[in-house]
This record gives sequence, C-alpha cells and structure tokens, in this order.
Amino acid sequence: MLAFASHRTHYTNIGIREHRTFSVNIPTDNQVEVTDHIGLISGKNVDKSKIFTSFYDTLATAPMIRECPLNMECRVVQVVDVGASHEIFVGEIVDTFTSKGFLTNGLPDISKMKPFVVSMHDNNYWGIGKHMGRAWGVGKGSGKKDTDK
Ligand SMILES: Cc1cc2nc3c(=O)[nH]c(=O)nc-3n(C[C@H](O)[C@H](O)[C@H](O)COP(=O)(O)O)c2cc1C
Repeated sequence: MLAFASHRTHYTNIGIREHRTFSVNIPTDNQVEVTDHIGLISGKNVDKSKIFTSFYDTLATAPMIRECPLNMECRVVQVVDVGASHEIFVGEIVDTFTSKGFLTNGLPDISKMKPFVVSMHDNNYWGIGKHMGRAWGVGKGSGKKDTDK
C-alpha cells in the first residue's frame, strides 16, 4: 500500500478520482531540475505528458514515466477527505517496473537508482546518502538490557 496527500484543486486529483488509478514514479539524481519544474506547473495549463515518455501496463489509465528508474502503478482503495485543502489517496501497488541497469542480482538497487527527497521546511532537495545498516537486523542484540513486562 502507498498513500500521498494532494491538494484538491490539483489537476492530478481530477484524473485519479475519475479513473481510480495513479502511478508513483521515483526520479533519479540527474532529474532534479525537471522534477522541480513539473511541480511548479499544472496540467490545467500545460500538457505535462509531453515532458516525459509515458507507458502504460495493467491498469491502462495510470501513465508511468519511462525515464524514471522506478515506477509503481496503483489502484485506489480509499480516498480520505482531510478538511478544506487536501485529500489522501491510498493505493494498492498493482505492479512495479524498473530497467535491468538498476538491478543487482535481480533486485532493485537503491544505490543505482539514486533517488532524492525534499526537505519541506527549507525547500531543498537531498540525495539519500550512505548505507547505514541492515533493516530488521541492526537492532537485534541492542535490547539486551530491556526488562520483560
Ligand atoms: C518539491 C515539491 C513537492 C510538492 N509536494 C506536493 C504535495 O505533497 N502535495 C501537493 O498537493 N502538491 C505538492 N506540490 C505541488 C504540486 O506538485 C503542484 O501544485 C503541481 O503543479 C500540481 O500539478 P497538477 O495541477 O497538474 O496536478 C509539490 C511541488 C513541489 C515543487
């Protein structure tokens, strides 16, 4: 499952409500500029479908971005109304796509995909940094002093 909040006035929301599908496309570090650009303009005024190469799969109404290293097509399972501004779309990930160049031993490799995040309080983009340990692993053994209840 995957969820995100989008302002109800966005063009994106109209399409998602109509088709009950959406896609999430994770850009890579050399796409910061174009990613920012599409977040500054609206599909109400500009045809954003021409900026990237679209492709479709099972859901047929969730265009994905060929230039992005990771694409997820999602079926809406719930729309949560959160007051006057935003609605939260909760989607089931139906399928995930990447290219061979982003795989290691047949699995998605984040060090090859090089995604980035945005820090909202100061409006800056950041890369994800270095590997810090195994999930569901590094915490093992650190609770030796915990007292059982
Ligand atoms: C870095 C960045 C992050 C953004 N995050 C969100 C967000 O989480 N929710 C949202 O509603 N809009 C967000 N926006 C604004 C929308 O991307 C922007 O209003 C966009 O033009 C809406 O396009 P549309 O009208 O075609 O849907 C973000 C914009 C930028 C640049």
